[in-house]
Amino acid sequence: MSLPLQSLGDLPARKRGGPPLAVLTAYDFGSARLLDEAGVDLLLVGDSLGMVVHGLPDTTGVTMEMMLLHTRAVCRAQPRSPVIADLPYASYDSPAQALASAQSLMQAGANAVKLEGGCRVLPQVQAIVAAGIPVCGHIGMLPQSIAEEGAYRRKGRTQDQAQALLEDAEALDRAGVMAMVLESVVESVAAEITKRVSCCTIGIGSGPDNNGQVLVTHDVIGAFPWFRPPFAQARADCAAEIRRAAAAYIKSVREV
Ligand code: KIV
Repeated sequence: MSLPLQSLGDLPARKRGGPPLAVLTAYDFGSARLLDEAGVDLLLVGDSLGMVVHGLPDTTGVTMEMMLLHTRAVCRAQPRSPVIADLPYASYDSPAQALASAQSLMQAGANAVKLEGGCRVLPQVQAIVAAGIPVCGHIGMLPQSIAEEGAYRRKGRTQDQAQALLEDAEALDRAGVMAMVLESVVESVAAEITKRVSCCTIGIGSGPDNNGQVLVTHDVIGAFPWFRPPFAQARADCAAEIRRAAAAYIKSVREV
């Protein structure tokens, strides 16, 4: 088995020579430690925490305060894997706001920040990169845009959509992002983006031809049984284990 990523500086070598990056979300001290010990390449403090930890209907209710709290908890585990923290909804509406928000997440211990959008957020990406903060882009299906979009839809199905995605990807790449997440992008379009850009692509629901894959940890360990996207394979059934252990405990208390 090859070594997990040691630092963000190793990303170009992984783009050139593989193996693909294995990325998972972490929202707290314990899970960060366990995933790091398992050898994950990158930890993502994703704003998906709004849904799987806080029970919000989507990610637009996630605040900077929440992201800072969870980023600090993850970084307290002192993981070897670099930590990427999401800039939450409405925390990067202008380049100045984006930079200030990114700086706060870096002060909380993150090694890089991620934000959603392509050409639309280019000035924000440029401002953060110019300040020396590593940025991970995120294009394709954008959960923070659910209100405008109306539904979570696969991206790149039409010629125009595919062209727009390629333009977004190339613009982010030129702006100097260290990697970009491709979420729910048609496989052939994700493969074309991966070929064209110099940074690593990290796919989620975008087929195998990316430089890595990311999933929400709750989906991989079966800890959020009420919803799991079809592309995320559960490798454990933690929900069943929690229910079983809790029932055993309840029984033992009542039987005294
Ligand atoms: O918030 C998140 O967990 C993410 C991943 C799904 C890519 O952005």
